[in-house]
Amino acid sequence: MTPAAAPTLPGVERIIVTGGTVLDGTADVPGAKNSVLKLMAASLLAEGRTVLEGVPTIVDVRIMAELLRRLGAEVEHDAASRTCVVDVPAEVGHRADYELVRAMRASISVLGPLTARLGRADVAVPGGDAIGSRGLDLHVEGLRAMGAEVHVDHGYLVTQAPPGGLHGADVHLAFPSVGATENLLMAATLADGRTTLQGVAREPEIDDLVDLLVAMGAQVGGRGTSRLVVDGVRRLGAVRHTVVPDRVVAGTWAYAAAVTGGRVHVRGGRLEHLGMVADKLRAAGAEVDAVADGFVVRGPRRPRAVDVATLPYPGFPTDLQPFALALAALADGSGVLTENLFEARFRFAHELERLGADLVVDGSHVLVRGRPSLSGAPVEASDIRAGAALVVAGLRAEGTTEVHGVAHVDRGYEDVVASLRGLGADVRRDVAAVPDERLGGVLG
Ligand code: UD1
Repeated sequence: MTPAAAPTLPGVERIIVTGGTVLDGTADVPGAKNSVLKLMAASLLAEGRTVLEGVPTIVDVRIMAELLRRLGAEVEHDAASRTCVVDVPAEVGHRADYELVRAMRASISVLGPLTARLGRADVAVPGGDAIGSRGLDLHVEGLRAMGAEVHVDHGYLVTQAPPGGLHGADVHLAFPSVGATENLLMAATLADGRTTLQGVAREPEIDDLVDLLVAMGAQVGGRGTSRLVVDGVRRLGAVRHTVVPDRVVAGTWAYAAAVTGGRVHVRGGRLEHLGMVADKLRAAGAEVDAVADGFVVRGPRRPRAVDVATLPYPGFPTDLQPFALALAALADGSGVLTENLFEARFRFAHELERLGADLVVDGSHVLVRGRPSLSGAPVEASDIRAGAALVVAGLRAEGTTEVHGVAHVDRGYEDVVASLRGLGADVRRDVAAVPDERLGGVLG
């Protein structure tokens, strides 16, 4: 009797990389994920049509669009023209459900705008994307200083402004949190009086948010510095704005060039937002040159070992740390990587070990002894950047690397497979049907 074919579970998506290609070509950089999500949230501050240009087609944008729709806005994102229109009615809701906040931590950025415009917000406390603990204490302290009552109720952060609305305050952030800076900045634009925010984050995405808010009619001084002074206004107006290019996507293509010893023209990338990254790439032996519409990276035949420590901007970005680790794994010599922002970002290091990297994790440091090449294996992405960095590492691994957890990558990259194929890489994406007898022991 012929045995029945094993029943299959729904497919598991994966990206399959066959290593060994030297990349050559052009890769484009859309607007920044970490900016557009906040710009969309900021649209809640004004009634009317906010038009954002350069918006990437990524899952996180879809999630933020859904969140805004549930608050009463109409949102249209045209992928072909990269335009997103957010039409905000006079009356908006005040509740951000756990379902969406759980899917995307950046949903928390509606907290400031809703508290400022409506005087109240109920926003689920986020879980996040598994890269270390991420508190909200700075968001809460700042809103309290502006007069809001804030408490947690059944898993929701509930804010209530005083009867006259939020008022200006002097707030000193103990750490330059990106998310807290953005929430408090947005809240301050409609508060009564002057708010001074000290010790704020200085990421280019914050400047982009300041630019949008100023265009909307907000009064914000100190752009690009660690001290923002906001004079509250009664109302803001909806405007059109182009999102700043994504420096992490640009950095991804730069590292892809360096890892493979190839040449990549990063079109639309802004080298001035990647100062420390360019320094580290050059120290590793790459050539990095500005061109009219972006920059070009030529990777070394074999990278030199360099030490990298992540820091708030303008330091080396934590979101590019996994790529720096992948490059270090292939370097001639030993290097130390230090993560100063998040705790658990070294999950990626253990996946890199599966590709043959020689490394030791010790607290917030990783000691890496470089090898001439890696060897392909199945690996699992734990977050957006780890997923993309595993694909990049796979480009320099012998044989085939299967990257699982692809959904993480889709949160931040439009189509990483198409972009890398455009550079000559042997990369594809497929859905592997999993026979359930193989999983019997796990499931049973
Ligand atoms: C943003 C970026 C993320 C990037 C990070 C640091 C978005 C959507 N995400 O995340 O890609 O890696 O900046 O550049 O823009 N913290 C507190 N209390 C607070 C707020 C933060 O302790 O109230 C701590 C967190 O636990 C974390 C660190 O500060 O360890 C960094 O957080 P933050 O700068 O706020 O990052 P995000 O805005 O979450």
